[in-house]
Amino acid sequence: MPGTEHGVTRERLLSMMTAYKSTYLLRAAIELGVFDALADGSADPDTVAAILRTSPRGTRLLLRALAAAGLLAVDGEQFGLAPGAETLLVRSSPQYGGGVVRVAASDWEWDAMKDLAGAVRAGGTLLAENAEAPGFPYWVDFATHLTFATGPGAEFVADLLVPAAAGRDRYGVLDVGCGHGLFGFAVAQRVPGATVSCLDWPDVLDVARGHAERLGLADRVHYLPGDAFEVPLGGPYDAVVLGNFLFQFSARRGTELLRRLAGALKPGGRVVVIGFTTGDRPPAEDYHAHLLSLLMLAGTTEGELHSPIVYQKMLATAGFAATAAHERPGLPLRAVTAELA
Ligand SMILES: C[S@@+](CC[C@H](N)C(=O)[O-])C[C@H]1O[C@@H](n2cnc3c(N)ncnc32)[C@H](O)[C@@H]1O
Repeated sequence: MPGTEHGVTRERLLSMMTAYKSTYLLRAAIELGVFDALADGSADPDTVAAILRTSPRGTRLLLRALAAAGLLAVDGEQFGLAPGAETLLVRSSPQYGGGVVRVAASDWEWDAMKDLAGAVRAGGTLLAENAEAPGFPYWVDFATHLTFATGPGAEFVADLLVPAAAGRDRYGVLDVGCGHGLFGFAVAQRVPGATVSCLDWPDVLDVARGHAERLGLADRVHYLPGDAFEVPLGGPYDAVVLGNFLFQFSARRGTELLRRLAGALKPGGRVVVIGFTTGDRPPAEDYHAHLLSLLMLAGTTEGELHSPIVYQKMLATAGFAATAAHERPGLPLRAVTAELA
């Protein structure tokens, strides 16, 4: 896999040059509902085509390619789900992860990345609609579908805040760019006195509201719809969480926001910056973070992934003390915490 090997080989070049075909194979199969059609048992291409209302020819070629990719099992002309597909790719499964294609293989990401060379020349996005635009529809898809991979990060946030919050009658958390809201909700689930204020664009907050209701937290969650740089923040809070948020901005603009958030925290209040970061290790160890940084280059005006050291500097400049970096084995997210003096 690129990022874990060194050196240039024909195999690695071909794998990188053709990777997009695998992406679109998976995206087409999910969009058409191939895995759902096979959930009750194997079928031949004509039967699948009749269920999906697709062409027999197109269906036959798609099913064979899916079998070649190992996502379907094949026995003669009968195609069925490969191990794991029933859990991860059938829509009715509680662990369904196929919706992530709406984000990771979205038209917007493709449009941003397909002229990466142009973005490198220009030093920022070439798209008229970029990730900083209010009401940017991609963020609703992100909040809706990325819950698939959110659990361990949410537990990480809770572990960083719960020791200070436990036993408190009241503990106010502001979750900035909350998306699905699950980072703040993980704290509320463990601390009965905790309330969570979710800040995001209005349509994204509808997704967070759904999760708050599902988790029985509706009466402890408040909503701050609008731009994090402008919306009245309320407070003062005991803690502020910024999950995968600051990398959409330059370090200068991120520091400006941290200064604003410091004004909404109680003395001694804690900030948790968590998300993908680039690191101080060899780039190959943070391959996906470096790709995400390129998406920020191609999809925002000034965003890029920052390292924990840069976050610590930003927090210190914004008036925070006791900065510390945290990571967990096996978790690609890193966290930086700090306290308001
Ligand atoms: C990458 S998502 C992170 C969601 C969640 N915190 C997580 O880590 O999974 C970034 C979120 O920030 C929100 N966002 C982006 N710019 C914003 C702004 N200027 N004001 C408020 N929310 C913003 C987006 O709508 C999106 O929900």
